[in-house]
Amino acid sequence: MRIRLLTVASVTVVIALNAGAGWAQPAPRSVKDGVFSAAQAARGEEIILTECARCHSPSLLGGENNTPPLVGEVFQKKWGGLSLDELFEKMVKTMPTDSPGRLSKTEYADALA
Ligand code: HEC
Repeated sequence: MRIRLLTVASVTVVIALNAGAGWAQPAPRSVKDGVFSAAQAARGEEIILTECARCHSPSLLGGENNTPPLVGEVFQKKWGGLSLDELFEKMVKTMPTDSPGRLSKTEYADALA
């Protein structure tokens, strides 16, 4: 009786492990799945307004000297299908154009949110 119980228990463990393996490759998530928090977005808004709006305009719809928009249709078309990682890299490596990489990684991540 005791041996039989053990066998049942180990079969259960094997099934659980197999089920777990099926979850090892999660489906890709998009920003629409809520990958950032409201607090992060609020901090990011502050950063965008103080660090980015002077060139990209306060509306973020694009500024002088062909500075591109950071919101809206044109921006969506360009970045919509790309990963957040690519956009993050672009920001960290090139923004603000007059002092790239000046912000902390957390600040860039908040701005991205
Ligand atoms: C001194 C002006 C200036 C500031 C400040 C600035 N940017 Fe930019 N930004 C530009 C210019 C000019 C471009 C276009 C050239 C390029 O892509 O490198 C650009 C391009 C971008 C792009 C690429 C947009 C696209 O569609 O190609 C992103 C994203 C971006 N900026 C984010 C930011 C963020 C976030 C900040 C604040 C942390 C910031 N920028 C601050 C001038 C600026």
